[in-house]
Amino acid sequence: MIESQQFDPDPFKQFTLWFADAEQAELPLHNAMTLATASRAGMPSARMVLLKEVDARGFVFYTNYQGRKARELKENPFASLVFYWQPLSRQVRVEGTVEMLASRESDRYFASRPRGHQLEAHVSAQSQVIKDRLFLEEQFKAFTEMVAGQDVPRPEHWGGYRLIPNTLEFWQEGEHRLHDRLRYRRHDNDPWVIERLAP
Ligand SMILES: Cc1cc2nc3c(=O)[nH]c(=O)nc-3n(C[C@H](O)[C@H](O)[C@H](O)COP(=O)(O)O)c2cc1C
Repeated sequence: MIESQQFDPDPFKQFTLWFADAEQAELPLHNAMTLATASRAGMPSARMVLLKEVDARGFVFYTNYQGRKARELKENPFASLVFYWQPLSRQVRVEGTVEMLASRESDRYFASRPRGHQLEAHVSAQSQVIKDRLFLEEQFKAFTEMVAGQDVPRPEHWGGYRLIPNTLEFWQEGEHRLHDRLRYRRHDNDPWVIERLAP
């Protein structure tokens, strides 16, 4: 049993509470998270991405479907996320499997992005080696001119992923390094098991 009454038995509700606290604290990029993926051989890689949606289905982020993270997710759909909200002394870790969003969900989000971001998604072959910065700027300029006055459709190589968690851990700093660590884990759609971990 968890003796602490501070944690909601539903990890998504718990996450939503802490996420709202981070937003209210006006932290810069409170939705920035580290996304770790791994190749088929188990070689890990990590980078920051932005959380764009979260609900009981999981954590949504958007990216290029042909970059390194996408290649790794195709080979190995397991991934993890880490949030750190420094002034609140809180960390959240999330682990699970990743699925591509349905096209219409990605379309909807893409349509809401600033035009410059839409144009960039078309011209940047994420994670590929390029000659120099000028190459990128010329591609951007040429494409901008080509689609002048038209809506920019979502390119097929760009869209969202949803990480469906099977484990979440909420970490709150405590005095004398006696931090709280609450782990929620579940198998398939079984009820969540909540455990307290030693810091
Ligand atoms: C704060 C921050 C937020 C970022 N958000 C995203 C994002 O939402 N999607 C994305 O594709 N890249 C984002 N990036 C860039 C990634 O960290 C990374 O450089 C890029 O996605 C290529 O990663 P990959 O080569 O592992 O696929 C962000 C970078 C920073 C520093």
